[in-house]
Amino acid sequence: MYIANEKRYDTMKYNRCGKSGIKLSAFSLGLWHNFGSGDNYDNMVDMVTTAFDLGITHFDLANNYGPYPGSAEENFGKILNNELSPYRDELIISTKAGYTMWAGPYGDHGSRKYLIASLDQSLKRMGLEYVDIFYHHRPDPETPFEETAAALDHIVRSGKALYVGVSNYSAEQTKTLSEIMKGLGTPLLIHQPRYNMFERWIEDGLQDVLEEEGMGSISFCPLAQGMLTNKYIHGIPKDSRAAKSSPFLTADRISEDVIAKVVKLNEIAENRGQSLAQMACAWNLRGGKLTSVLLGASRPSQITENVGALAKLDFTSDELNAIENALK
Ligand SMILES: NC(=O)c1ccc[n+]([C@@H]2O[C@H](COP(=O)([O-])OP(=O)(O)OC[C@H]3O[C@@H](n4cnc5c(N)ncnc54)[C@H](OP(=O)(O)O)[C@@H]3O)[C@@H](O)[C@H]2O)c1
Repeated sequence: MYIANEKRYDTMKYNRCGKSGIKLSAFSLGLWHNFGSGDNYDNMVDMVTTAFDLGITHFDLANNYGPYPGSAEENFGKILNNELSPYRDELIISTKAGYTMWAGPYGDHGSRKYLIASLDQSLKRMGLEYVDIFYHHRPDPETPFEETAAALDHIVRSGKALYVGVSNYSAEQTKTLSEIMKGLGTPLLIHQPRYNMFERWIEDGLQDVLEEEGMGSISFCPLAQGMLTNKYIHGIPKDSRAAKSSPFLTADRISEDVIAKVVKLNEIAENRGQSLAQMACAWNLRGGKLTSVLLGASRPSQITENVGALAKLDFTSDELNAIENALK
């Protein structure tokens, strides 16, 4: 059985999540890709234990991660049971519901029926009594905010989640739900938006709302699924996400325009003495607005490399300007 690195808390940074009592590791690990039923179990164990040994305390899942949907939770449950059970109280485990999970009208969106049933299924798959954070995965235009809010409040009061959050909500939707949740006495802990150098919508209002509401934030796809690394500069490697069957990053996304920007960014990163992946992570954390960067990985070495960004998180204004110019 795995024994965790005794020095795991020595170098990681822990940031307070909004105005809550919880701190998250500046880096978290997401299990969206490479933890499904067809993936290599030993590699999954290596990735999770490498992350924990580096001081990553937060592991992010969702009901539908796989494929097949639910299999990432099953695999994580197996890893928890086989390797991490002595460390449960050192972990922040999250899951979500909001996208299609099962057939019929109750396996999707934001109803009380769906959210509560889905979390019960997730807990069973992971062999857990509770998750630390439960997210509504995306806004549902048809369910009243009040119903989703009451379901999230109930979930916390029933002890099945310690905190709740939202993902993919706009600034306005976040404000609306947050105000209702505050009224119920269960404030939203965190927002999980997509954020990276190529996708910056959160700078346009959402970050202000999060500050006003006292919520933390964790960025998903911080490396634009791997595009913000040096891996695609000389073509598409066979073992990369863009070459595999993921529908979320198809080869046509690696356009000449993207690569031209990546080449310039890579040069800036080299001048800073770090890899582009490291610089992209550090850039996410600049200015202290974000609580954590939510990494994905296909192998343990990527996690080690990316967490290495901690050695140089600060930017000069010249570097930030050079990045803005490279992105034009
Ligand atoms: N809330 C939501 O709606 C939502 C949506 C999407 C994701 N998420 C969460 O965010 C997490 C991260 O998303 P993501 O996987 O897209 O994140 P990402 O960090 O942008 O991309 C991760 C991928 O980039 C490649 N990579 C990572 N480090 C690298 C390095 N140092 N050098 C070269 N390649 C590297 C790997 O792909 P290959 O090696 O396979 O090429 C890895 O799987 C997910 O696991 C999930 O928890 C949430």
